[in-house]
Amino acid sequence: MANIAVLASGSGSNFQSITEAINKTEHKVVCLICDRKDAYVFERAKVLGIKSYYVPYYKREKEDVEKEIDQILSSSECHLVALAGFMRIFSSYIIDRWSNKIINIHPSLLPKYPGAHGIEESYYSGDLEMGVTIHYVDTGMDTGPVIYQESFTRRENETLESAEEEIHKIEHRAYPEILIKKLDSINKTV
Ligand code: GAR
Repeated sequence: MANIAVLASGSGSNFQSITEAINKTEHKVVCLICDRKDAYVFERAKVLGIKSYYVPYYKREKEDVEKEIDQILSSSECHLVALAGFMRIFSSYIIDRWSNKIINIHPSLLPKYPGAHGIEESYYSGDLEMGVTIHYVDTGMDTGPVIYQESFTRRENETLESAEEEIHKIEHRAYPEILIKKLDSINKTV
């Protein structure tokens, strides 16, 4: 059995799909960490019975916040960390301590359209291919070695809403699959 923590900042639909999928395995989602007090992801954590932590960044030194996150991750005995719509960039303080153990999902075919508006920017670019990237996290914005990419071809009459729906469908299937594979391989080494 291996433990995973999820960090999110918003709605938490990926947190929910990760937790529901992992609940069917021997692995465990040990906690949710969120930097926004009013984020809907807290409601989902309550329903799913996952311990949650609010870690604000406002008016705090980044290193102090990251020390707090590091302590939560360590005391939760987690082996892997999944960013699921967590809209903050880590410094080397966290990245060095959790090297190759932090994974992120982004709703575009990176390196194209990093940042907070990946879906909109992909859609309005007119690119024929849109998609999702799962990658290890480094100190850049949506950079780091790619683990998996999945694309789809823009359909006739594609709207921003239909593209968004397709992207979320891919995310909710692919992210849990990749994370479970990683947890399986960690399991063999611990
Ligand atoms: C997801 O689409 C995720 O790929 C994106 O935020 C959304 C979170 O949705 N992440 C990024 O844009 C990272 N740069 P959710 O809160 O419903 O899971």
